[in-house]
Amino acid sequence: MRIIIGISGGIAAYKIPFLIRLLKKSGAEVKCILTPSAVDFISPIVVSALSNEPVGIDFWNKETGEWNNHVAYGEWADLLVIAPATANTIAKMATGACDNLLLATYLSMRNKTLVVPAMDLDMYKHPSFLRNIEQLTKDGVTILPASEGELASGLFGQGRMEEPEIILTKIQEILKTKTPLLGKTVLITAGPTHEAIDPVRFIGNSSSGKMGFALAETAIALGAKVVLISGPTNCTLTHDALEIIHVTTADEMLAEVKAKWEACSMGIFSAAVADYKPATVSDTKIKKVDDVLHIELVKNPDIVSWASNNKKENQLTIGFALETNNEKENALEKLKKKNMNIIILNSLNEKGAGFEKDTNKITIFDSKGDTKIFDLKHKKSVAIDIFDYIIEYSK
Ligand code: C5P
Repeated sequence: MRIIIGISGGIAAYKIPFLIRLLKKSGAEVKCILTPSAVDFISPIVVSALSNEPVGIDFWNKETGEWNNHVAYGEWADLLVIAPATANTIAKMATGACDNLLLATYLSMRNKTLVVPAMDLDMYKHPSFLRNIEQLTKDGVTILPASEGELASGLFGQGRMEEPEIILTKIQEILKTKTPLLGKTVLITAGPTHEAIDPVRFIGNSSSGKMGFALAETAIALGAKVVLISGPTNCTLTHDALEIIHVTTADEMLAEVKAKWEACSMGIFSAAVADYKPATVSDTKIKKVDDVLHIELVKNPDIVSWASNNKKENQLTIGFALETNNEKENALEKLKKKNMNIIILNSLNEKGAGFEKDTNKITIFDSKGDTKIFDLKHKKSVAIDIFDYIIEYSK
C-alpha cells in the first residue's frame, strides 16, 4: 500500500503518529503532506521520522530550492487519506480551491481519497459543512464519519476524528489488503472483576481495562473477529467485527469464556481477575456493628488455566503477569503452571506501567524459551507489539 496522509490543522492531528505507525507495521509505504496550519498542531519532524520520508508542506522546499511535485504525489499514492480533515480543508476540496500542496495533490490524485473529519459538534452539523460533504461524496471521495465523544472544546457530541485503528481498517477495506488475522477469532478478557460482599459492596481492583480494549482494537485492525469479555470498565468500543460481553464476577467471566472458547484461535487473558471472592454474599447491607469484621474468602476459578487445559492443538493462550518482585521467575513460573504459550510481564516497578496508566512497559516470554524486552510505550503501541510477537510465534 502506498498511502499519503494529508494532515490539516486540527487538534486530532496528535493521533496521526499512531496511524503512521499502524500503517508502517502493516507494511505500507507512507508519505505525509501537512497544510501550513497543521504545522501548529504537529511537528513535521515527528511525521518525517515516523514515516521515514520527507514531509511536504509548501509548493517549494525553501531549504533545497526543490519543487514539491504534487503531480508525482498524485501518481504515486494508492490512496490519499486526509486526517484530520478540517471544515476549512473540506470546504476548499468541495469547491476545487488549490492554495496549498495538499489541495493540489488532492486535485492530482489518480486513485481514491478518504476524508476523516474532525471538528466541533456545531461545525459538524452546520448546513455548509453537510453540503460540502455531500459534494465530496458525489465527487467519489469516501468519508469516514466522526464519532461521538468528548471534544477538545470540552463539549460532547459528534466531531471526534475516528481512532487510528478504525482508520486503518477503513483503509484496508478500501484497498482490500491482506490482514494477518483475517478469518481468526480472538478472545480477550479485560478489566477487573467485582466480587460482591453485600448488595452495595464488592472486592475489586483498579484495573482500567485499557490494555484489553487496545488489544481488541488492534486485533480488529489486523482483520480478526474479536470476542471481548470485560469486567466493569469505562472503556468503550464498537465495531462490526466486535462482540463485547459485559460481566461482573470471575464466575461470570469464566462462563462466557467457556461458551466462546471453542470458536477462537487464541485467547488473550488481560483481565485482572480477583483471586478470591466472599464465601457467602449477604442479601442485605452489612451493618457497622462490631469493631472487627471477618469476611471469609474462597478462591476464584483460574480462567486462563481453564482455557489452557481445554485448548486444541491450534489454539493459543496468552496471559499477563503483574509483578512487584522476582518478576522474571514469577512470570516464567506462571507461564508453565498455567500451561500458556506466551506471558506478558508488566512490572509495577516501572514508572508509567500498570493499572490506570495509558502507557505500559512489557517483557514477553514464551513456551519455546524466547524472551523480548520492549520500551515504555502507549498501550495502543504495546498492543501492536504483542500481536507482532504472537504472529511471529505461531509461524
Ligand atoms: O495468577 P495471576 O493473577 O498473576 O495471573 C495472571 C494471568 O492469569 C492474567 O493473564 C490473568 O488474566 C489470568 N487470570 C485468570 N483467572 C484468574 C486469575 C488470573 O484468567 N482467576
